[in-house]
Amino acid sequence: MDSTIMERNAQKNLRKWNIADTDHEIFALIKQRWSTRKFKPDLIPETDLKKIFEAGRWASSYENIQPWRFIYAVKGSPSYTIIQECVPDNDTEWVSKAPVLVLTVYKQQRNDGSTNNHAMLNLGLCLGNMHIQAEYLGIAMTQLFDIDCEHATKSFGVPKGYSTYSVLVLGYYGDSEEVITREELEAEALIRKRYAQTDFVYKDEWKTF
Ligand SMILES: Cc1cc2nc3c(=O)[nH]c(=O)nc-3n(C[C@H](O)[C@H](O)[C@H](O)COP(=O)(O)O)c2cc1C
Repeated sequence: MDSTIMERNAQKNLRKWNIADTDHEIFALIKQRWSTRKFKPDLIPETDLKKIFEAGRWASSYENIQPWRFIYAVKGSPSYTIIQECVPDNDTEWVSKAPVLVLTVYKQQRNDGSTNNHAMLNLGLCLGNMHIQAEYLGIAMTQLFDIDCEHATKSFGVPKGYSTYSVLVLGYYGDSEEVITREELEAEALIRKRYAQTDFVYKDEWKTF
């Protein structure tokens, strides 16, 4: 990580707790990324948003179709309000603290008009790149899946042939230790548990437990 970004992350008080307790040593940005629901109000520079989308741009995709599309909105804008209206009621409060919301959309078809069965997977690869780039910049990115796609599609005039999929909530990690109780903090940390590799990686044959 270059020194400018390290300094800025230090200034943003990037949290040091809740780093994944991995079984094997891995890339630090993957260890430290997590889905926070506490954001600082600080605005994200447009140049950093461009870097995050650029990282997504270079993801691999089936037939290089690049089916991902995004509509982003900055807090205070009418489009931010629309995206906010699409999230479930119980998520509205924490989502509304984030400086940037992004609606994710994918193109359903291949260039020959047939269905692209890999479009959603490819959107996921794109989002994976974006997650890591955002983390590199000290920016948290939490995904919201259970959104009102119909409202989003209608409000933004997303054309036929495209599916609205999720909302990304972007902002600098909030000081969770200061703003939530120890119990809440522990509950958040618990979310970071994962299956052991032996539960999902099998050598040579399918394993049933
Ligand atoms: C496609 C997708 C949809 C998600 N939807 C939601 C959601 O609707 N609400 C939420 O609070 N978190 C959501 N998350 C975040 C997950 O709950 C979180 O990634 C998971 O619990 C693992 O925690 P971690 O990301 O902090 O390691 C979603 C994540 C993904 C990848």
